Amino acid sequence: MKNSFGNAINVTVFGESHGAGVGVLIDGIAPGIKVDEDFIAQQLTLRRPSGKISTARREPDNYVIQSGVYNGFTTGAPLCIFIPNTDTRSRDYTPDLPRPSHADFTAREKYHGFEDYRGGGHFSGRITAALVAAGAIVIPALREKGIYIGTCIKQVGQFILGDISHDREALLAIAESDYGLTDEYAISMMKDVIESAASDGDSVGGVLETAVIGLPAGLGEPWFDGVESQIARAVFGIPAVKEISFGSDKISVLRGSRANDQFTVKDGKIVTETNNSGGIQGGITNGMPVVFRTTIKATPSISKEQKTVNMSTLEEVTLSVKGRHDPCIVPRARIVLDSVAALVIADMLTVRYGSDALTSK
Ligand SMILES: Cc1cc2nc3c(=O)[nH]c(=O)nc-3n(C[C@H](O)[C@H](O)[C@H](O)COP(=O)(O)O)c2cc1C
Repeated sequence: MKNSFGNAINVTVFGESHGAGVGVLIDGIAPGIKVDEDFIAQQLTLRRPSGKISTARREPDNYVIQSGVYNGFTTGAPLCIFIPNTDTRSRDYTPDLPRPSHADFTAREKYHGFEDYRGGGHFSGRITAALVAAGAIVIPALREKGIYIGTCIKQVGQFILGDISHDREALLAIAESDYGLTDEYAISMMKDVIESAASDGDSVGGVLETAVIGLPAGLGEPWFDGVESQIARAVFGIPAVKEISFGSDKISVLRGSRANDQFTVKDGKIVTETNNSGGIQGGITNGMPVVFRTTIKATPSISKEQKTVNMSTLEEVTLSVKGRHDPCIVPRARIVLDSVAALVIADMLTVRYGSDALTSK
């Protein structure tokens, strides 16, 4: 599968940065999920650029549900959402000069010049708007089942900023916050770090931490379709993701006696005293919060001069990228992570409990 993920619920993305638009096809979704159009719009707003810390490209994201929803509920038929592109400026892109660390060179090698290179084409972060719209279909259904997801900005550049609590109120607050941070000081520090890189014509990366609470024990399949494998496969599809790790970030240095999550009983249920495994053992959820960290690299397109090669003439030249770009992808990526995590969880619940698992009560 190329542009798709999921076993029971297949999610396929399509579109280009400067084509007619971007979109998603969700096949295998349960019938009877209440579709909250205001929530979809709100989630898309959280991905949209804002202020000096984001690209100047401003898209209204006026999405259209093309199929699969009737009278405000999913029908169970393939659900297609299309988001038109309205604010493109293709003159900023040169077909022969690949931006260092963007996908221009690899796309040319694979598609022989037939690729739509404008704005990164099909490799653009713009496609993630479609993932956010898809996530907004399943997030309310998951919340109805007591499953909550939130992603916080843990680090931008070298600065440690946020932390995530694993309770419902804290996750809802972080999920609804503008940047995946609830502390005003951390927000202003994040903005300073990003604006400082931008004013140097440069960019910066960072780390995000995602937590999912309320999952039943027993989701995931052994070996190659474990929870880590399925989340990692989908998360690595998000452009600019370079690392993902699960559970405690100290797991490699702790002795077994400290690393092991010891069992105990709470409210009549078997739980663990610690959660160093990030809620997963043997690829299967143990009922504790699923926790993972995602590393996002610094944005490739920067105005600082860098070396590149003209792909037609093989002449070595310098390139200063002139278009509109995010000096940091991290604040916009966090809602994409919530959305992708929600889609993977929805898929795993459907595999285990059947195609009505997410139907509204
Ligand atoms: C939400 C989002 C926004 C992005 N914005 C930009 C951008 O403005 N400029 C840019 O060069 N890359 C941007 N990217 C990253 C590129 O799309 C990505 O680095 C490129 O496709 C190469 O893929 P790779 O980094 O996964 O190898 C963005 C990614 C995401 C998820």
